[in-house]
Amino acid sequence: MKSKVLVSLLSDGQVHSGERLARELGVSRTAVWKQVRRALDEGYEIDTVRGRGYRLVTPVDLLDADTILAGLAEPARNRIALTVLDEVDSTNTEVLRQISKGATGVPVAIADSQTKGRGRRGKPWRSPRGENLYLSAGLTFHGGFSVLDGLSLVLGVAVAETLEGLGVPGVRLKWPNDIFLPDGKLGGILVELQGELQEGVVRVIAGIGINVHMSRADDVDQPWASLDQISSQADWSRNRIASALINALLESAETFAEKGFSFFQESWQARDMFKGRHLVAQGGEVIGVGCGIDGQGNYLVEGVSGVVAIRAGEISLRVAL
Ligand code: BTN
Repeated sequence: MKSKVLVSLLSDGQVHSGERLARELGVSRTAVWKQVRRALDEGYEIDTVRGRGYRLVTPVDLLDADTILAGLAEPARNRIALTVLDEVDSTNTEVLRQISKGATGVPVAIADSQTKGRGRRGKPWRSPRGENLYLSAGLTFHGGFSVLDGLSLVLGVAVAETLEGLGVPGVRLKWPNDIFLPDGKLGGILVELQGELQEGVVRVIAGIGINVHMSRADDVDQPWASLDQISSQADWSRNRIASALINALLESAETFAEKGFSFFQESWQARDMFKGRHLVAQGGEVIGVGCGIDGQGNYLVEGVSGVVAIRAGEISLRVAL
């Protein structure tokens, strides 16, 4: 975002004179006008108040690395290598790039927009500029791939608890790890395996997308929700949500490595969106009633021939209408 400094100066919603902006930006008044034009092209709504200056009409919620770092608990602040970008293909891919450049610590990437945001099952993830949170972290575990069973559900619990801690009511988890509010999907988690680094050391890239300010999404094919829909008055600052999420991700990953999935099983079940509902599989056939998860994070469905455990990635489930 080329006009970021200008937009941050205007972010208080007050009228700023061209002269003052020119001074603060260290440029001429003509250059200020050019920056205003550029910001308008980037989608910001800026009013020219005749004889007085410029005013940002719609509030902005700018990402800022220092603010995010300041909101972290000390252990997380010391452990992460944070990259905050205006635009990126995908924050998951950015974390991989950071790793190949030799990032030390836990690489975390956050972007204002993604041009190739990825969802689960090869779907694109809508990633408009300035509206939502797109965050990825590279997490390392010891003990081979088998220790990762249930990790994506654990991350779902971490996201749900974080949102609840920030005052979001009615958060539910749709197996394996979609984040739902009563009106629709609020967020999703994409866990990608990077592979075995050395004997038994495995790394995953955990990407989280949360709809924060999104107000329209014509091309999304399912009911969706955003935090602004709960209350547009609340301060859903992306920096604050990002700090809280990073704290929770690191803490949960550590607990998961120490205690395994069973430690999180109850917390996941308590938010289970499928519990007691008739479920249909991908093809549309009803397969039974949702009964929660087992100790490995498989989803249990009670059908005519008893309870069947479904592994994540095997079939996608939804509630029968
Ligand atoms: C889903 O399909 O529910 C998972 C969506 C995951 C989206 C996030 S946004 C940050 C990270 N970068 C991506 O390209 N995808 C994930």
